[in-house]
Amino acid sequence: MERFSIIVGDITQSGAEAIANAANTTLLGGSGVDGAIHRAAGPELLEACRPLGGCPTGEARITPGFHLRAKYVLHTPGPIWRGGLDGEPALLASCYRSCLTLAAERGIRTVDFPSISTGVYGYPLPSAATVALKAIMDFLAEHPLPERVRMVCHTEAAAAVYRQAWNLWYAEDKGQRL
Ligand code: APR
Repeated sequence: MERFSIIVGDITQSGAEAIANAANTTLLGGSGVDGAIHRAAGPELLEACRPLGGCPTGEARITPGFHLRAKYVLHTPGPIWRGGLDGEPALLASCYRSCLTLAAERGIRTVDFPSISTGVYGYPLPSAATVALKAIMDFLAEHPLPERVRMVCHTEAAAAVYRQAWNLWYAEDKGQRL
C-alpha cells in the first residue's frame, strides 16, 4: 500500500478510518469542507464538538464520525492566510502533524486530509501543498502509523498542484512521478 497518495474526491465519502476536517477555532461547523463533513456526519457531530470548547489554530481534536463512513474526524483549524509572514506555514504544518499524532496515538491506520486552509482561509495552493507534503512526509518517515495517508483534493486542478509539488520535492526519479 502506498504510504502517501494524492486523489480527487469528496472527503465525506472517504472510507479511511479517520478524515481530517478543515475546521475553525470554535469547532461549531461552518461552510466548505467543514460544512460538508457536518452535514454528512449528522447533528451528533456538532453535539460531540460542543463540549470540546473549541481548538486553537494548528492543534487538532478527535471525535467519532457518526454517520460518515470514517470512524473518526480529526478537527483542525488551519491558519488564515495573511501574506505568509504571520506564522502561517508553521501553523499549517502543525495542523497536519497534530492530526497525524492523534491518529498514531489511537492506532488509526488510514487518514485522509482535505487541503487545509486553501479555501475560505485563502492559503495559496502551491505554498500550502509544499507545507502539507513536507509535514506529512516528515511524520511518516518517523512513525509506523498511520500506514496510509491521502490528500483528497476536491478538484483535478488542485490535485495537479499537489502532484507538481510532489514531483518537485519527493519524486527521486521519473518512476516515482505522479
Ligand atoms: N472534499 C474534499 N475537499 C473539499 C470538499 C470536500 N467535500 N469541500 C471543499 N473542499 C476543499 C476546498 O476545495 C479547499 O481546497 O477543502 C479545502 C479547504 O477549503 P475550506 O473548506 O474553505 O477550508 P479552509 O480554507 O481551511 O477554511 C476554513 O471555512 O468552512 C469554514 O468552518 C470553516 O471557518 C472555517 C473555514
